[in-house]
Amino acid sequence: MSFILYQNQLLPREKGKVDMEDRGYQFGDGIYEAIRVYSGQMFLLEGHMKRLVRSARELRIKLPCSIENLTDNLKQLIKRNAIGDGMVYFQITRGAAPRKHYFPDGVSPVLTGSATLFPRDKHREEGIKVVLAEDIRWLRCDIKTLNLLGNVLAKQKAHENGAEEAIQHRGDIVTEGASSNVFIVRGGKLITHPADHYILNGITRLFVLDLASKLNIPVVERTFTLEELFAADEAFITSTGNEVKPVTQIDDHPVSDGKAGEITLKLAEAFDRAVNRVKRATLS
Ligand code: PDD
Repeated sequence: MSFILYQNQLLPREKGKVDMEDRGYQFGDGIYEAIRVYSGQMFLLEGHMKRLVRSARELRIKLPCSIENLTDNLKQLIKRNAIGDGMVYFQITRGAAPRKHYFPDGVSPVLTGSATLFPRDKHREEGIKVVLAEDIRWLRCDIKTLNLLGNVLAKQKAHENGAEEAIQHRGDIVTEGASSNVFIVRGGKLITHPADHYILNGITRLFVLDLASKLNIPVVERTFTLEELFAADEAFITSTGNEVKPVTQIDDHPVSDGKAGEITLKLAEAFDRAVNRVKRATLS
């Protein structure tokens, strides 16, 4: 039997019901996080929780419980579902109330969550194909909201073209993937869009920036153009699900020689070492 989290309780999956007037359902009025689980342990938990608190603050959604309480419940959820390598997903909506656009008085937030198996990708080194998609999203992409239609349409374009991800751009400027951050390498330097309102500041992005600094790989957080993307020596995406994944083809163009780049693989290996440390610590 699988279990879900509903408010402060674990319930059998089939008992999970949503009110049809929940504002998450009607307006996408809510926030979420997706956290990777390795050997039953949540990875980069603190960063995810910090971002959740920030998303809630920006949208003036009251968290229904403390972060400690939420963390304990998510740990129980992982245990009850016997998740080794997996993914925890949870969302908090503003709550259920008769439909009106402004925040209804006295509405209480609704928390729901799940934990599922999500094995690590064994073919990561092969790299992925991506397509380009105009970034049509709103201007607060820094908030992790349930409103993902721009991302959904971009990902659908990727799917229809046999690609794994869509790299979004506003005019000439590359912003981020449909559900990932984008990095390029030029002349030994990492370049990625600054963490402003045009992108989600990925927890994996932040972790990779930290790995780069430990490996003495120079980093520049600045915008870059489509032209720079096509001329890049290497390109890769980062996200909770993808970890560090090389991009080897953009539309019909290979990135450099069409193989995963050296710096990309160095970072991917450093990421693996961090995951393996978590796994070893769990075993001992
Ligand atoms: N997506 N940018 C966007 C638009 C995203 O949706 C995500 C993550 C990221 C990477 O963030 P992080 O490294 O914290 O996962 C960047 C998650 C995984 C999702 O929606 O499933």
